Amino acid sequence: GIPACAGCHGPAGAGLPAQYPRLAGQYAEYTATQLKTFRTHERANDPEKMMRVIAGKLSDAQISAVAEYAAGLR
Ligand code: HEC
Repeated sequence: GIPACAGCHGPAGAGLPAQYPRLAGQYAEYTATQLKTFRTHERANDPEKMMRVIAGKLSDAQISAVAEYAAGLR
């Protein structure tokens, strides 16, 4: 039930400026922190709650996994 990250952030996580930020190569720690703050709504600058809805469905383990994955993309 989670929309594919690549649908908005691009197949290789390159993003689509200026709406969809690049994820590829980003520090895993940074990505994980952003997902956790979207999840708690501490970060709420995403249009139409796009990221808050998605992050709300992710577990800590899923956040770590996806953050590690994105960090490895080039
Ligand atoms: C419906 C489109 C959409 C989907 C699907 C989506 N995102 Fe996003 N994401 C966005 C938008 C838009 C932003 C930028 C919000 C802002 O700061 O304006 C964003 C921001 C982010 C950020 C913060 C980036 C930064 O540099 O601060 C992360 C991390 C992120 N998304 C991860 C993910 C992951 C992981 C997935 C898959 C589980 C995902 N996104 C799926 C639209 C999407």
